[in-house]
Amino acid sequence: MKLVIAGSRPLSGVVRVGGAKNAALKIMAASLLAEGVCRLSNVPRIADVDTMVGVLRGLGARVGLRPDGSMSIDPSGVEHCEPPEELVKEMRASIQVMGPLLARLGHVRARQPGGCNIGPRPIDLHLKGFAALGASITEERGYVSVRAQRLKGAEILLDIPSVGATENIMMAACLAEGTTVIRNAAREPEIVDQQNFLVRLGAKVRGAGTDTIRIEGVESLGSTAYAVIPDRIEAGTFMVAAAMTGGTARVENVIVEHVQALIAKLREAGAEVAEGGSYVVVRGPERLRAVSIRTLPYPGFPTDMQPQFVAAMSVANGTSIVTETIFPNRFRYTEELRRMGANVRVEGRVAVVQGVPALSGAHVEAPDLRGGAALILGALVSDGPTELAGVHHIDRGYEDLPGKLAKLGAAIERVEASECQVG
Ligand code: EPZ
Repeated sequence: MKLVIAGSRPLSGVVRVGGAKNAALKIMAASLLAEGVCRLSNVPRIADVDTMVGVLRGLGARVGLRPDGSMSIDPSGVEHCEPPEELVKEMRASIQVMGPLLARLGHVRARQPGGCNIGPRPIDLHLKGFAALGASITEERGYVSVRAQRLKGAEILLDIPSVGATENIMMAACLAEGTTVIRNAAREPEIVDQQNFLVRLGAKVRGAGTDTIRIEGVESLGSTAYAVIPDRIEAGTFMVAAAMTGGTARVENVIVEHVQALIAKLREAGAEVAEGGSYVVVRGPERLRAVSIRTLPYPGFPTDMQPQFVAAMSVANGTSIVTETIFPNRFRYTEELRRMGANVRVEGRVAVVQGVPALSGAHVEAPDLRGGAALILGALVSDGPTELAGVHHIDRGYEDLPGKLAKLGAAIERVEASECQVG
């Protein structure tokens, strides 16, 4: 399967954002803490959600799916303490079941998640948190085993505000004895969404969204129905697409508060951004001005928008300096962007992007999820058609990104690899 994308044209129209991948995956994991069936809605229909369904079923949970992506999760049959190894290999987020399993069963064993295309992805902070809660950790032959008779609340200070570690520790602490305080916690909106879900189950959690989260352990939790927040990175991807193609797009179902860092940078680059109650309207100029960014934990500029923004800067007026402070190796896609004529030089964690008048269509391959999105955006400002391989990376995290871009006027279609004959 490949994508064939015809060249430059402005994107215009209305597009609706779906549920947040990085909230849905963790709330699915948190459902393991419930006594009873949880019903989740506004869950995106993406490959990573399918993988997490596989993980939950592999643990013994019953998961019912509806065509609109909503689902019911019944954890009462959960008795296995080990997520299916092949799924942990495939998706790092599978490790987010460790906290709930430790709290529910007192034991979890998992394959150390490998690094991925954006760098090594250790879980040392997750394990440090579990140990602080009284668990014993053994690591051997690439597996980690975590055991605890009863978790005890503790004061935990995270060396870095890790999103996954904050979430895993928060989930484990819900059923611990006593109070847990997580300091230097990550402040992402997806963590607030998880806290809201846990509170609906009856957990006593507060402070998510700030750098200090307090959890008072309870004996058990109930069940609930819950709607996942909209995906701020999907929203940002469409906002950048409109800004860099000189189009006008109304992006609906957005929590505007969650995309403020991106709005500020798009305005600095010369785009007009109007903020509505639950939408934004982005109007791109003839050509964007080059602006520099530095990715930071929320509420700073999100690392998950760095590749898309570099694609926009590759056809801006001037030179942009892009510093990636979260992941050590998140510029791999720039090799492919250079094949499309971009002038991007990478030195360690810094990319220097000199804007060129236009890119040119080429045969490229997506190295990862957001890098793939960046290459699609680059193809939308290219002279001539682009053929993009590695579409499976994009389908992991976006619900039909090609289809939604086509609705905004992009000439983009999926073709079987054998059919490709782009020049
Ligand atoms: C989450 O990953 C997101 N994934 C990522 O989105 C996102 O880029 C990232 O948070 C940062 O916002 C999901 O939510 C499923 P971290 P996570 O723990 O939790 C290091 C996307 O494109 N670290 O905040 O893995 C780590 O190596 C994906 O949707 C440790 O050193 O991110 C990284 O350099 C990509 N030890 C940094 O911290 C640990 O124990 C931030 O990682 C944990 C993390």
